Amino acid sequence: MSDNTVYRASTTAPVNIAVIKYWGKRDAALNLPTNSSLSVTLSQKSLKTHTTASCSASYTGADSLLLNDEPEDIQSNKRTQACLQLLKRFRHDIEVKNPSAPKLSTMPLKLVSINNFPTAAGLASSAAGFAALVRAIANLYELPHTPTQLSLVARQGSGSACRSLMGGYVAWRAGTARDGSDSIAEEIAPVSHWPNLKALILVVSADKKGVASTAGMQTTVETSTLFKTRAESIVPQRMEEMEAAIHAKDFAKFAEITMRDSNSFHATCLDSWPPIHYLNDVSRAAMNAVETCNRKAGKLIAAYTFDAGPNAVIYYEEENEKLVAGVFRYVLQQVKGWEGEYGAQIPSNEQGGLEAKTVMTLKAGVSRVICTGVGDGPERVEEHLVDDRGKPVRI
Ligand code: DP6
Repeated sequence: MSDNTVYRASTTAPVNIAVIKYWGKRDAALNLPTNSSLSVTLSQKSLKTHTTASCSASYTGADSLLLNDEPEDIQSNKRTQACLQLLKRFRHDIEVKNPSAPKLSTMPLKLVSINNFPTAAGLASSAAGFAALVRAIANLYELPHTPTQLSLVARQGSGSACRSLMGGYVAWRAGTARDGSDSIAEEIAPVSHWPNLKALILVVSADKKGVASTAGMQTTVETSTLFKTRAESIVPQRMEEMEAAIHAKDFAKFAEITMRDSNSFHATCLDSWPPIHYLNDVSRAAMNAVETCNRKAGKLIAAYTFDAGPNAVIYYEEENEKLVAGVFRYVLQQVKGWEGEYGAQIPSNEQGGLEAKTVMTLKAGVSRVICTGVGDGPERVEEHLVDDRGKPVRI
């Protein structure tokens, strides 16, 4: 008798933006970092990946992934394979201990995933993507693992993904073990500890596709003379200071470390050979605008940070919304993204003393904004992207 049961589990997972950057691997095969990093998980009201994991004895063929309606080649993707093999092994252990448990580990997986943000926005979606994939399969397999234990799996998909398995403020400890068993992510403070941290993302259109982070960080490790000092002494001290700043909700300290660490990371990129340029004139105009807001306020009320691309992420506290996001709203009122729960409450300010050139560059180069704030980790949802006969559905 054939069993047509389709097993399903779904989750959403957030994007995270690091305030102390992961850049550099000490082991590329296990995806182990050269330094610890720390990030803020962003609200899923603004940005999320929704993934359904399903399996059935009636499915034929290999494991498959449909991402934003397009089939992905996961067979030749070593990183996805590493995640799937580990999760199947964990499920297999459960099946060995409990012979009446359905043999899910032997069934083909059908994974369907959608991002609620446009891929064209140029936002790194690999963190939310791998976190959602790992969390959805862990739910499907009913694994007893904690988010920290699962971070070991997600890390192998994409380093930054291990930090998207938790909400609030998350540290990824580099660890020292050769097998990576202590390279894990842990929540250092929940959203409720410091809920009024907001983020404004300026999406900047890049002329051409930049160097992918995986390749870029390898070039930096191999060629930058600044990099060693960053990894060995600068970041370890910053991790301690940043954790203290978060625990104390000391925004000025948080802002200083965030900006200095972004600058330090981009300095090692420029110090790589061939040099890697992620920032452009629009990114520099965003930095300039943030510096002006801070100067006008007489203290640090805004912090910029940039990943492997020109988009700016600007952190600020809700009480300073008008003085920070309000200035950008005034300057960029014509661009999309001010609608929605986070954006609608931002009052338009005036130009805030920004130089004319900065205003012109921002107006010409920012294609949209995303208004968001600190948010929770993955959430289990009952909206499945696969129906009970195994067919993908749109919701
Ligand atoms: C600049 O996590 O994309 O965003 O592990 O090779 O997949 P891989 O790299 P990835 O790198 C992210 C780098 C960063 C900084 C950060 O998020 O910490």
